[in-house]
Amino acid sequence: MSQRKMLQFSTGALLFLLPWFGGPVLGEISDNFSQCLDFFYKKSPPTGINAAGYQPICQRYKNQYHFASLYHRQHRAPLFSAYILSSADGKRPNSTWMYEPQLAFSRASSEMKPFHTPMDNNVIESQAMLQDYKNSTYTKGHLNPSMHQKTKQNREATFTLTNIVPQKAGSNSGPWSILENEMLRKFKTYCNGSMYVITGGYALYF
Ligand SMILES: *[C@@H]1O[C@H](CO)[C@@H](O)[C@H](O)[C@H]1NC(C)=O
Ligand SMILES: *[C@@H]1O[C@H](CO)[C@@H](O)[C@H](O)[C@H]1NC(C)=O
Ligand SMILES: *[C@@H]1O[C@H](CO)[C@@H](O)[C@H](O)[C@H]1NC(C)=O
Ligand SMILES: *[C@@H]1O[C@H](CO)[C@@H](O)[C@H](O)[C@H]1NC(C)=O
Repeated sequence: MSQRKMLQFSTGALLFLLPWFGGPVLGEISDNFSQCLDFFYKKSPPTGINAAGYQPICQRYKNQYHFASLYHRQHRAPLFSAYILSSADGKRPNSTWMYEPQLAFSRASSEMKPFHTPMDNNVIESQAMLQDYKNSTYTKGHLNPSMHQKTKQNREATFTLTNIVPQKAGSNSGPWSILENEMLRKFKTYCNGSMYVITGGYALYF
């Protein structure tokens, strides 16, 4: 069975679905993407998604928006991340993993912040923690991969766990990595203009 499916292709937008296996893998926040519509083709986020439980996140890092994610607090994973693909101008950064204070405290800054210990219980209950991935057979799968982002800051911003789904190691480093490289190659070879990408994960509960 294929581990990934391409759902939709149009001139400027790509939608990928990356399956992950759920269960116990274990500023002022807005209920829409109005602050970061630029990351969606024709400024149009996907419609028809049952909004219950989902939180739009305009991914903010170092005082700038970098991409957008639709996050589910209880699933502790995003449904998708939307971004504009670009060739990286440097290496994959050393990953400092970050979390989003505004998911726990609606008045908190919407800047992503590096994990620290101990973490506040309200934060632990509002989103995935690094511990959720420890001792698991899953790796941290980027929906918006760092190497699809131009600047160092753009790339660092992808290291928020709200951009991550649990992904089998062999998939992450194997076919998925090949797919990500192939998208970049196609972009460089054939695209004149912006490539808008939406990559999603879906959960199979047992
Ligand atoms: C989006 O959310 C903001 C509050 O964050 C609100 O002021 C605005 O009216 C909303 N826009 C739409 C189109 O719902
Ligand atoms: C990552 O960290 C290592 C050791 O701290 C350092 O040697 C290396 O240059 C860093 N790489 C990047 C891309 O910053
Ligand atoms: C991971 O496994 C080790 C050894 O079994 C255990 O000591 C540790 O508490 C576990 N960590 C987590 C986060 O579950
Ligand atoms: C790319 O687009 C620009 C502006 O529309 C145009 O001037 C240029 O010729 C295009 N290049 C190619 C290779 O299509």
